[in-house]
Amino acid sequence: MGIGKKVEKPDYSEAKLVVAMVGLPARGKSYLSNKLTRYLRWLEYDVQVFNVGQLRRKKARMKQQQMGIKEDHSAIYFSSSNEEGQKARDALSEESLSNLISWLRAGGNIGIHDATNSTVDRRSKIAARVASEPGIDLIFLESLCDDPEVIAANIALKVSSGDPDYKGMSRENAKQDFMNRIKQYEKVYETVTESHLSYVKIINVGRQVTVSRVRGYMQSRIAFYLLNLHLKPRAIYLSRHGESMFNVQGKIGGDSDLSPRGKKYAKALPSLIHDIVGDANLTVWTSTLRRTIQTAEHLPYEKLDWKSLDELDAGVCDGMTYEEIEAKYPEDFASRDEDKFNYRYRGGESYRDVVVRLEPIIMELERQENILIICHQAILRCLYAYFLNLNQSDLPYIKIPLHTVIKLTPKAYGTDEERYTVPIGAVDTHRPKPGTHTPNYTSKNTTIRDYYGDAD
Ligand code: F6P
Repeated sequence: MGIGKKVEKPDYSEAKLVVAMVGLPARGKSYLSNKLTRYLRWLEYDVQVFNVGQLRRKKARMKQQQMGIKEDHSAIYFSSSNEEGQKARDALSEESLSNLISWLRAGGNIGIHDATNSTVDRRSKIAARVASEPGIDLIFLESLCDDPEVIAANIALKVSSGDPDYKGMSRENAKQDFMNRIKQYEKVYETVTESHLSYVKIINVGRQVTVSRVRGYMQSRIAFYLLNLHLKPRAIYLSRHGESMFNVQGKIGGDSDLSPRGKKYAKALPSLIHDIVGDANLTVWTSTLRRTIQTAEHLPYEKLDWKSLDELDAGVCDGMTYEEIEAKYPEDFASRDEDKFNYRYRGGESYRDVVVRLEPIIMELERQENILIICHQAILRCLYAYFLNLNQSDLPYIKIPLHTVIKLTPKAYGTDEERYTVPIGAVDTHRPKPGTHTPNYTSKNTTIRDYYGDAD
């Protein structure tokens, strides 16, 4: 008889929501919808973004291929006095919403309608369409922004990111056209004030948030998440505790002290962290277990210990080596290898359980500025997967080596990563899935550094 069991994801089949974005171009709508998608997917909802601009480009490409007609999508197309353009854009918005609704009907949970949806008229059409679909809710998410720095950064991002609208155009011309396009939208823009609609209005990415008529669990969860976002530049630093006595003995779990090499790492950490962050302010979060508190011991920053950062609870297997578990509970050992994310140790936890208990940590991390988290292999895998948008089957195999600091910098387009490896030897506790090679899951923007500061 097995000792643990496979715990499947909660039943979200009844959860059906349209999130319709509202905002002028370059106001961070895509940033918000990407972040929201990442968060909701991490919570295991099936989420999909339906971007009207992408549909417009796809249709234009097809038209050109099939009929040889090249549509003009320069700023003039977006003018409200361009009736034809207006009609075409309305039709695209409707088509995209229909695609979204079909996708929800086919099993999806949250569809994000990523468009400007910038007039009362457009929003009333969306509201009428969704109201005709029983069981599907609607919330508008508006991003209002008048911070010239944020707008300029978003414009620069659009014209420098190889946006297909500006293919073959000089950066300067692309910028001019995009700014003209924004002007066209500004002429008719109406901020959401419709009192019968559910909406969240975010002003200058977090400086002020208005929430109106938010109903039900999923909408409240989304609103709460959005209430916590901010755009201030900051970084999140992740480190496992220094090598522990249990690590050296190959045992899992427990509450052992640091090994002599682990203590060396704890001593090396203050100067490494200072070299990376300089004089910036930092708060250190640890778990409540001895090995993380000892690792943070010499750091001269405010410290906070969190029970929810304690290592994955291995239940009856706590304190055993993998070999002992395999010998004593062979069936369990095999089923964990088969589906590690879902496997729950008897009397203990699964990776899914850990993700659920980490949600308040994620929320708090979104609110905070520079944080250094010193905790454990399984916990850091879950946090890392949130920031880098990794899926559940990869998550339990992410490589988070000992004696390494990972710096994550959230950016408009994703998360940048740097890894600083301290040259103090440590055991390798990574156990790959049998018969597979575990790649290093790192973001596109990963820099690996060896740190030779005051390590010894
Ligand atoms: O081996 C170190 C450790 O932190 C254990 O305490 C924990 O059970 C394990 O890693 C989690 O990793 P995995 O899920 O790969 O067994």
